[in-house]
This record gives sequence, structure tokens and C-alpha cells, in this order.
Amino acid sequence: MGKIIIAGNWKMHKTQAEALEFLHVLKSSLEEANEAREVVLCAPFTALGIMSKSLHGGLIRLGAQNIHWKENGAYTGEISGPMLTELGVEYVVVGHSERRQYFGETDETANYRVIAAQSHGLTPILCVGETKSQRDAGETETVIINQIKRGLVDVDQNNLVIAYEPIWAIGTGDTCEASEANRVIGVIREQLSNQEVTIQYGGSVKANNIDEIMAQPEIDGALVGGASLDPVGFARIVNYH
Ligand code: PGA
Repeated sequence: MGKIIIAGNWKMHKTQAEALEFLHVLKSSLEEANEAREVVLCAPFTALGIMSKSLHGGLIRLGAQNIHWKENGAYTGEISGPMLTELGVEYVVVGHSERRQYFGETDETANYRVIAAQSHGLTPILCVGETKSQRDAGETETVIINQIKRGLVDVDQNNLVIAYEPIWAIGTGDTCEASEANRVIGVIREQLSNQEVTIQYGGSVKANNIDEIMAQPEIDGALVGGASLDPVGFARIVNYH
């Protein structure tokens, strides 16, 4: 078991003004500071600066959604570790299935990004997950084990979060059965040398299924997309019972 981390992945949502409005409501909706649960918001790059100021000194942590492996250079459209740490960012999502599907991310580039994040003191959240056709073909374990092995080459497992996100469950409302997510996360844990790595579940996590998901023994948190955009709903997820 690892530390409990509930992270929101806003994807390409929220301007600076919208982000501040969200924080205002979220802060008033969270129950008494529960230090045993880390709350992370992975926001678009443009909102990070202003959010960092608003979150300063509080318990909510800031995350980004990508990081390049070089510190600077001719990489149009990319963002580097020093640019993120300067803004108070502590986490970064790496290898999300949308990056893999639409922007050519591979296990190898995800691995470079994980290593870069760690070298700048950021905690990478490495996403893995199978497609529907891979699942139907009985390939889930093989796919996941390969993504983990390739993604974690030369990676320090003392500063790492993994998110198991079955692609067919992302944004579809089609949540993976909690017991099945628990089983696959157990398979992931068997691949790790450090048993304390936080392994989250992601894919259509909502206020109405978070309690069941978090009741599973292998699941150490959630990576929440759509349901993290509404502060009241996200607060209910963070305040799971
Ligand atoms: P979802 O997205 O909660 O909207 O399914 C999860 C994710 O992509 O991280």
C-alpha cells in the first residue's frame, strides 16, 4: 500500500479565472484537513502560476500534465522541469492514454519524461492501461506488464505514482469493476520492487463510485478526469468514505 493520493486531471479545461473560481469553492467544500489524503490538481500550464499563488501554504498540491526530458532547447510546444518547479508544481502526469493516442507518446518517451520529472524533484504519475480490444483478446496483463517494464527503466521507485487507467473506461462512464481494477493493480504491484508505490485507479471515477473503489485493498487513490471539473463533486470524491 502507498500513500493515498486523489488527483484531478483537468485535461484541456479551465482558464485562469475558472481555475480560481474552482479553488474558491473546493477549499470551502473539503472536510477538515485530512493529511492522510493528498489532493492534487493537474491543471493546464496556463493556470499553474495563478493557482500556485492561491494554493500557497495549503494542503492541495499542484500537478502538470506533461514534461519534456530536456531542460531547454528547440522543442516547440513542450515544457521543461525547471519551468514547472518554478511555479510550485510537485506532480506531473506522464504517458496518459490521450498523449499516447493523439500525440505519439510511447513507452520510451514516457520513460524519459518520468526520469526527467524525478531529476527535478517532481513526482511523476505514470499512466498505463489497455484498450477494449486488448482486453477482449485477453491481453490485459501482457500489455500492462510491458508498459510498466518499459516505462520504469532506470526509474527510482521511491518517488513514483502509477495510475491504472483502462482506456475503455476513460470518459465513457463505463467504469472498470472495482474488484477487477483491484486485481490488475495487484498485477502491477507484483512488477514493482517498492511495494509502497501509490497505485491509483482512473477511468470514469465519480462521486457515486469512489467509495467502492477506495474500499479495494490494492487501490491507493484515483486519477479523476471529467468529475474533477466540478469543485463540489470533486470535494465529495476527496472526502470519500
Ligand atoms: P475520466 O478521465 O475520469 O473522465 O474518465 C480519467 C483520466 O483520463 O485520467
